[in-house]
Amino acid sequence: MSKAHFGLIGLGVMGENLILNAESNGFSSVVYNRTYAKTQEFLAGRGSGRNIVGAQSLQEFVEKLERPRRILIMIKAGNPIDNIIEAISPYLEDGDLLIDGGNSLYTDTERRVRELEKKNFGYIGMGISGGAKGALEGPSMMPGGTVQAYREIEDLLYKMAAQVEDGPCVAYIGPGGAGHFVKTVHNGIEYGIEQILAEAYDLMKRIYGMNGNEMAEILKKWNKTEELSSYLVEITEICLRTKDLSDGSDLVEKIMDQAGQKGTGLWTVISALEMGVSVPTIYASLNGRVMSSMKKDRIIGEEILKGPSLIPFDMGSKDHSILHLENACVLACMASYAQGMALLVEASRLHNYNLDISSIAQIWKGGCIIRSRLLKRIQDAYTLNPSLVNLLFDPWFTSQINQRLDSLAIIVAGASKSGIPVPCLSSTLDYINSCRTNRLPQNLVQAMRDCFGAHTYERLDMEGNFHTEWLE
Ligand code: 6PG
Repeated sequence: MSKAHFGLIGLGVMGENLILNAESNGFSSVVYNRTYAKTQEFLAGRGSGRNIVGAQSLQEFVEKLERPRRILIMIKAGNPIDNIIEAISPYLEDGDLLIDGGNSLYTDTERRVRELEKKNFGYIGMGISGGAKGALEGPSMMPGGTVQAYREIEDLLYKMAAQVEDGPCVAYIGPGGAGHFVKTVHNGIEYGIEQILAEAYDLMKRIYGMNGNEMAEILKKWNKTEELSSYLVEITEICLRTKDLSDGSDLVEKIMDQAGQKGTGLWTVISALEMGVSVPTIYASLNGRVMSSMKKDRIIGEEILKGPSLIPFDMGSKDHSILHLENACVLACMASYAQGMALLVEASRLHNYNLDISSIAQIWKGGCIIRSRLLKRIQDAYTLNPSLVNLLFDPWFTSQINQRLDSLAIIVAGASKSGIPVPCLSSTLDYINSCRTNRLPQNLVQAMRDCFGAHTYERLDMEGNFHTEWLE
C-alpha cells in the first residue's frame, strides 16, 4: 500500500474535521488517537469511504507516512504536547515535521521549535481559527516556525484554508512562536468583540426593554453595514433569536451569566502588559469574564450596593439612541482590532518576528472567528503604511472616530447614570480620549514618585533627570 501524505494525532472534533478537510483536498491520511476505539469509531463513521487509514501505535502511524512526514497534532495544549513529542520522536527521521495546531502558549512553541530543530526535525506552531465548521470547510491558519518547514506544508494549507477574494486565508507568519502569538492576539480581539456585543445586548434589554427578536433585528441591520458586518455579529443575531424549545422564550435568558475561558485572552493581556502595549478594551473583556464568574459575590452586592440616583438615561427616541449604540459598538470594535494590531507590531519588533500586519489582516478576512468587513480596511491601512503605530491614526479610521465619538460618550454616560456596567465601551472611550490627549496627568504621578522615593523626573523645558527635596 502506498504511504499516506498527511498524519493526524488527536481525533477530537477539530482534528476529525481538519483531516476530513485535508483528505477531501486530495491528501491521503493516517490517523492516530490515544484510545484506538475512537480511531475505529471514526474510520467506521465519518472517515469511512475516505482515503484515511488508522494506526494503533505511534510507530505504526509513523511507518504509514511518506517522507518527509507531515504530522498535525490536535490535542490539549500544555504538557500533553511535550509528552506526545517525546513519545513520537524515536520513530521520526531527519526532515520530518510536527505541526501543533492547538492554542499553545507561544513561549512553549518557541522552546519546542528550538529543541526539535536541534534534532533535525521541523516544528510548526500553527494557530487555527474557525471552530469545528471552519476546520471542515476552510479555517484561517497562522503557521509559525522556519520558512523551510512551512514550505513543506504550504500546498496542503493553501488547499485546506478558507478562500477570500485575494487568496487563501493562510500565510507564513514568522519564526519561532510567531504563529501561536498571532493566534493568541486574534483571540484577545475575539474576547473584546464578544464582550462589546454582550454590553450592547445588556443596554438594549435593560434600558430599552427589548426582547430577543427585537434585538436580533438590530443585529441584522448592523450586519449589513461595512463597519459591523462580521461573523460574531451574525451569530449574535442567531443567539438572540433562538428560543427555548420547552416554552418558546428567549433561550439566552436561561443561560447562566458566567463566561468561561481557556487562557488565550489572559495571555494576550499578560503579553501586552509585559511589552508595554495598551490594550484596555481587550483587558476589559477579560475582566468582564472574571467578574461574571463571581456570581455569588454579585448576588450579595445587588442586595446591599445601591445604584446611582441620577437622572434616568434619556437620549430621545429609541431609534436615535440605537444609532448612538451602533456608533459606540463600531468604535469599540475598531479599538479592539487597533489594540491587537499594536500588540502585534510591538511583539514583532521585540521578538524579530518580522510580521506582515497587512497579510495577517488578509488571512483573518475569512474562516476565522473575528472575520469581518472591517479587516479589508485594516489590511489597506497597513499596506499603505506598514509601520503605522496605531490603526486609529490611519485617515479612514480617524474619520470614523471623529464622526462617532460623541455617540460613544453619550452611551457611556447614559450607562453610567443608569448604573449598568459597560467595561469595554467605557474603556474604549478612555482609550480614545487618552490617545487624543497630548498632556496626561502623569506629571503629577512623577512628582509623587520623586517625592516619596527620589525616583527622579524629566522636565519639559530642560534635558536631564531631576530630583526635588519636596518635603523640606
Ligand atoms: C477560534 C477560537 C478558538 C478558541 C475558543 C476558546 O479562533 O476558533 O478562538 O480557537 O479556542 O474561542 O476561547 P475561550 O474558551 O477562551 O473563550
